[in-house]
Amino acid sequence: MKLIRTENYEAMSLEAGKIIVDKIRSNPSLTLGLATGSTPKGLYKYLIKEHQENGTSYKQVKSVNLDEYSGLQAHDPNSYHYFMRQNLFNHLDISEYETHIPNGAARDLEQECIRYEQLIQELGGVDLQILGIGQNGHIGFNEPGTPFSSRTHIVTLAENTREANSRFFNSLAEVPTHAITMGIASILDSREILLLVSGEKKAEALLKFMNGEISEDFPASALKHHQNVTVIADKDALKYI
Ligand code: PGA
Repeated sequence: MKLIRTENYEAMSLEAGKIIVDKIRSNPSLTLGLATGSTPKGLYKYLIKEHQENGTSYKQVKSVNLDEYSGLQAHDPNSYHYFMRQNLFNHLDISEYETHIPNGAARDLEQECIRYEQLIQELGGVDLQILGIGQNGHIGFNEPGTPFSSRTHIVTLAENTREANSRFFNSLAEVPTHAITMGIASILDSREILLLVSGEKKAEALLKFMNGEISEDFPASALKHHQNVTVIADKDALKYI
């Protein structure tokens, strides 16, 4: 595992952005694994700016997102479909047909999980997966206790995850109770992983990730089984390391 230490959130976003742009330039039809949340927003801003200034093209790039709330339509401002369009896709030349996100509004969610897992296989797997980490060590919406062998599945969101995410909703009651997420085994299939960690709120989780045991009680620890993980963290997140 490689650790890149950065001064702050902007520098973390820049480091991650440079790695991604390099990969796209050497493999223009790359399949990117993408994440939502506060962490990758700066990275997405960088990719948009870099695309506008240098013309790096995403015409052949494909993307798969980690997760989506269940019960929210794609046009719902709290859906991850909406987040991705607003924060990235609308500002790049990527084809909307090549951006994939689980459909949390599917009538048959079990079937949707199977479809999504097959889709990832059909795309030939993820070349480069962007990840954040939850304060409880979750990756995607894989909460503590999720088997490392899990594939795309329906999850009941942990209360602390709902509380953490309620900042985007009018109230905690509006935060969905369920979601679809790529499983831990699905994530570990990615050829390369960038784990972004920023801020003091994540310092304990990062400490546990770096120095703790590999255990299903701390989902991110599964990444230690992967051969090609780069952690890009800022000073505040590295407070205890
Ligand atoms: P955040 O979420 O980027 O909004 O902190 C990360 C996560 O919970 O995986």
